[in-house]
Amino acid sequence: MSSNNKKVWLITGSSSGFGRALAEAVLKHGDRLIATARKPEQLNDLVNQYPETVKAVRLDITNKTAVKAAVDAALEAFGRIDVLVNNAGYGLIGALEEVSDEQIWRNFDTNLFGAINMIRAVLPILRQQKSGHIVNMSAIAGFSNELGFSIYGGAKFALEGVSEALHGEVAPLGIKVTIVEPGPFRTDFIGRSLDRAEHSIDEYEQTVGEFLQFLDKIEGTQPGDPDKAAQVLIQVVNSDNPPLRLVLGKYAYSKFRKKIESLTAELDAWEQIAASTDFETVGSHS
Ligand SMILES: NC(=O)c1ccc[n+]([C@@H]2O[C@H](COP(=O)([O-])OP(=O)(O)OC[C@H]3O[C@@H](n4cnc5c(N)ncnc54)[C@H](OP(=O)(O)O)[C@@H]3O)[C@@H](O)[C@H]2O)c1
Repeated sequence: MSSNNKKVWLITGSSSGFGRALAEAVLKHGDRLIATARKPEQLNDLVNQYPETVKAVRLDITNKTAVKAAVDAALEAFGRIDVLVNNAGYGLIGALEEVSDEQIWRNFDTNLFGAINMIRAVLPILRQQKSGHIVNMSAIAGFSNELGFSIYGGAKFALEGVSEALHGEVAPLGIKVTIVEPGPFRTDFIGRSLDRAEHSIDEYEQTVGEFLQFLDKIEGTQPGDPDKAAQVLIQVVNSDNPPLRLVLGKYAYSKFRKKIESLTAELDAWEQIAASTDFETVGSHS
């Protein structure tokens, strides 16, 4: 870590919601921050309040040139990066055949490829430092998906798959990886950050339509508090043994548990079939 023992964070999507709450908490905590946003002028108040410890940088994570420039700006400002928070992302609601090709591509480009762009740009620095923490904002839908979130949840599942392998690849290099799985939190997610299918098909009204109604109903009263999540993230980043998966909120916790129980029941029910497909004469590969 840096000589004065204060970490350097780089957070994507610091304009609102989790990213903004975490940016404020990190600065209040006394750490240093590269706060990034597509419109960095939205961060002017933070820069005025913490002129010595925050640098605001324009960043659209789908633009690799901008990603490199943001990482370079972090090094120039503070000489290192201790924590990368891949927070930027947005939802897409609609049945798989209701959403357009373009909506699908854009969603994966941000939620999956944008995060990968960031990780690949920052890793050489963390490797050289022999330390660092990559925090990837997934969603409970990235572990136990919802009807209507095939693409959004699919992108988050993919991000979790990437993160799982990455966790093992970089652990021996002194680098930590944490996947965050929040349930519904009071941010702009259901409002401006929820892309909706361009056309609807009546047959999905009872399934996808119901989940969409649930989202619209809870908008503004989601149980999760982003400021509390921000405090937990700071705690996790400062812990010696951070989790690979961090579930946030009772809704997410309950969904996670149910998924594990149903996976276990299905695995048990089909154990013999799974075992039946191996050759009779093989060594042990477990
Ligand atoms: N709130 C929830 O219930 C919930 C639950 C599970 C997971 N999440 C995840 O939490 C993360 C943050 O979302 P939020 O809930 O805090 O919603 P939010 O308040 O709407 O924030 C989303 C942030 O992502 C940024 N962003 C979107 N596309 C971007 C891009 N291409 N490049 C850079 N920034 C981009 C937005 O920037 P602009 O201001 O420029 O649009 C904004 O800062 C997302 O990854 C989301 O999937 C949220």
